[in-house]
Amino acid sequence: MSKKIFIKTLGCQMNEYDSNRIYDSVKRLGFEKSQDQNNLDCYVLNTCHIRDKAKEKVYHDIGRVKKLYKEKNKPIIVVAGCVAQAENQEMLSREPYIDIVIGPQSYHKINEKLKNFIKGNKIEETEFDTVSKFNYFDNLENENNKISSYLTIQEGCDKFCSFCVVPYTRGPEYSRPFNKIISEAEKLIKNGTKEIILLGQNVNAYSFKEKTKDYRISDLINKLETYSELKRIRYTTSHPRDMTDDLIECYLTSKKLMPLVHLPIQSGSNKILKLMNRKHTVEKYIEIYEKLIKINPKIEFSSDFIIAYPGETENDFNETLNLVKKIRFINSFSFIFSPRPGTVASNLDQIDNKIAKERLLKIQEYLFKFQLKKNESFINKSVDVLVENEIVGQNKLFGRNQYMNSVIFENGKNFIGKNVNIKIEHVNQNSLFGKIAKNNMRAA
Ligand code: SAM
Ligand code: SF4
Ligand code: F3S
Repeated sequence: MSKKIFIKTLGCQMNEYDSNRIYDSVKRLGFEKSQDQNNLDCYVLNTCHIRDKAKEKVYHDIGRVKKLYKEKNKPIIVVAGCVAQAENQEMLSREPYIDIVIGPQSYHKINEKLKNFIKGNKIEETEFDTVSKFNYFDNLENENNKISSYLTIQEGCDKFCSFCVVPYTRGPEYSRPFNKIISEAEKLIKNGTKEIILLGQNVNAYSFKEKTKDYRISDLINKLETYSELKRIRYTTSHPRDMTDDLIECYLTSKKLMPLVHLPIQSGSNKILKLMNRKHTVEKYIEIYEKLIKINPKIEFSSDFIIAYPGETENDFNETLNLVKKIRFINSFSFIFSPRPGTVASNLDQIDNKIAKERLLKIQEYLFKFQLKKNESFINKSVDVLVENEIVGQNKLFGRNQYMNSVIFENGKNFIGKNVNIKIEHVNQNSLFGKIAKNNMRAA
């Protein structure tokens, strides 16, 4: 009889990709994916360490599972991901209910750990073993068959922004071999994937050298462009410093690269960017923006902002607001600075929480306004939607437009996996709602 496993995934898209690969791996041991958390043989929590109380969230969740199994045999409890990497051994001593702690660069060893697991024996595996990890998974088919699939091409970070844990939890930058990525993409396309989202903590720093060639993300995009069954290409998360001309050029040459550029800036003040050790300026960012919209005026930007970074004055904050007003980002993430253990910024004097909250509300007022305005601009227009799935129990379909907006419309016939034209009737901040357009041709 097959054993049941469930993975709860927190954090970024890279964790989602990792969780899928864990499923691919444990399947070989006879584990079957289950949604029923009450009857599991193995429970995996794939964690994120980026902000606030990450650690506490983990113990809270494990406490929840512990309650579910109070009267029953407990499943094997695995904590994976970035908190596992940061806390390692300490987690096992603090919460004896946890059996295995496994880091983001060592989860290829999960089968070996589960196979040899003996009740009561605690296991910790947090080596940075990125090359072996990808070698292992290169020999294990990616069975993901979603319409939109993630594909990790690069891992880790060498940039060490003062606020960020990623270089410590994911380790140094590593780029996968070009041909291995393409083989995995081909497999995904064969499985039915129509959109590939290339992933990396610094995805546009991708650089794989083979003989005399240095393969960049632009080479991957150009290659993916040639697969007729693949309809859309995206990538995330990129860094302004690695936004090179060859990548910018792709927005001219590629028909499949979507016109939404997610490019985190963090702050609109050069003083703060310097304190953050971001290694780019506001002027450099604006230069990239201007180059891109010159190539294609339909391009829109989204970004990440850290509010109330230590040292941020009212003036610095206003510079961030000015940038938001200039670029009119259509969809962004904004969070108050959260001191992370082990990072340079963790011991700096923090800005008063009341001021921080006021600034967050202020920036979000603008970000949400521009987001809604952009959404409203689609009303009564036809938008090209890649249909991803049916919304369970609602007889409606879900897809995304080119700018990643959720689009929800009446279920007609089976459009899943197809590009359809949807006439937008009404919108809210996050989603667009409409009907299949009468002339269901490809729209802009
Ligand atoms: N590599 C990307 C870049 O350089 O922009 C970002 C990756 S990070 C996983 C995602 C986002 O988390 C960052 O862009 C930043 O806005 C946010 N973040 C990271 N550390 C943070 C902290 N200590 N407090 C608040 N937000 C943070
Ligand atoms: Fe973190 Fe900076 Fe690296 Fe992005 S570039 S992952 S924000 S250290
Ligand atoms: Fe979180 Fe690790 Fe991703 S800290 S954002 S899961 S790289």
